[in-house]
Amino acid sequence: MERFVIDGGRRLSGEVKISGAKNSALPIIAASLLTDREVVLENIPRLNDVDTMLQLVKSIGSKINFTNNILHIQTPKLKSFEAPYDIVRKMRASYYVLGPLIARAGRARVSLPGGCAIGPRPIDLHIKGLKALGVRIEVKAGYINAESRHLRGNRVDLQGPKGTSVGATINVMLAATAAKGTTEITSAACEPEVVDVANFLNHLGAKISGQGTHTIIIKGQKPLNRGQRYRIIPDRIEAGTFAVAGAITRGRIRITGCNLEHLTAVLDKFNEIGVVVKVMDDGLLVDGAGRKRATNIFVAPYPGFPTDMQAQFMALLSIIPGTSTIKETIFENRFMQAVELMRMGADITIEGDTAVINGVRKFSGAYVMASDLRASAALVLAGLAAKGRTVVRRIYHLDRGYEKFEVKLRRLGARIRRESE
Ligand code: UD1
Repeated sequence: MERFVIDGGRRLSGEVKISGAKNSALPIIAASLLTDREVVLENIPRLNDVDTMLQLVKSIGSKINFTNNILHIQTPKLKSFEAPYDIVRKMRASYYVLGPLIARAGRARVSLPGGCAIGPRPIDLHIKGLKALGVRIEVKAGYINAESRHLRGNRVDLQGPKGTSVGATINVMLAATAAKGTTEITSAACEPEVVDVANFLNHLGAKISGQGTHTIIIKGQKPLNRGQRYRIIPDRIEAGTFAVAGAITRGRIRITGCNLEHLTAVLDKFNEIGVVVKVMDDGLLVDGAGRKRATNIFVAPYPGFPTDMQAQFMALLSIIPGTSTIKETIFENRFMQAVELMRMGADITIEGDTAVINGVRKFSGAYVMASDLRASAALVLAGLAAKGRTVVRRIYHLDRGYEKFEVKLRRLGARIRRESE
């Protein structure tokens, strides 16, 4: 296993370029299974989760060539209809092959993902949506067995107890491209990554409208036979994470290649806290040198404050004077970083879905353990700001979702190195 060793206390400065969005890349790679034509995808980040998805689509029949963040992918024939447990347990997003396999082959067998470190993560909304399109689904021996001879368009509402679902919206949209008639998804997720998948499908020849709103209409059975070149959107969570790196180290960094529209809620929060964020032609400039104020964060689906940025802000708020709160409404167990931050000197109390953070003067370096992707990023950020040395263990979580994280941080002046345990 590998770990990061960070000598903290340096102000970061310089420029960082944002990679393509992991949460777009994964479903779009799966969506390429819908056509037998070659698809060229630009701006695909080199990440462990992307490698896992490529391993999965290769086992299904895709031929791929992946160099310099450009992925050539073609699936002339399907040779398997399955996402096995061994792959799904590594990456939940493997379930994105469900929709395309049903659409193209009328059948799929996908292992149930089960829970994960951030809490129980049911997939009932995916199943509900697919059933509405006429898919017969049986859950047996840990697998979802799905079969459909004739997909038909329908109305389906994807409101769940925690709001809507990004994954279910995308999976239903993917299957609906092959359904006879029109599908209307209500309570659809409107995250930028959902929009990106819809735009990609339209490039292939699909007829999807309403993406980015809570109602998506898919006119099915349009032939998806246009091989296409498509560039995926920048990773808004990576951009937000680097912005926190600038703020937490009282540094000044330029973040290029990001889409500011996707970052509105995060940028508003920086303004509220007193971190200066200037909009530039090609991105933004973050200046964390000034006095900062405590705040309250309410996590919500897009365009609200993203759950995937909550842990990083917890690290930042931990060293801002005054009392801040974070209310996490989407996942039940997503404060895993709190106990580790407390080992570095943070003063945090968890009360149900709310974290109460009393700002301390400084973090002190410590040995900490990464538990999930964004929690790991929070620990690295705390380490960058800490006095002394921080060792972040189990960084394989970070490698799932950040491209060259420590290389990019080093270029900004951070003292961080990777070593084997
Ligand atoms: C995606 C993102 C993840 C992000 C999350 C919320 C990917 C690969 N991952 O995850 O980074 O944190 O959106 O923005 O894109 N739920 C149900 N039933 C379902 C599906 C979900 O109750 O069938 C619940 C979940 O448990 C959760 C909430 O709905 O409480 C939102 O989850 P969802 O939007 O589905 O998250 P993912 O798509 O898995």
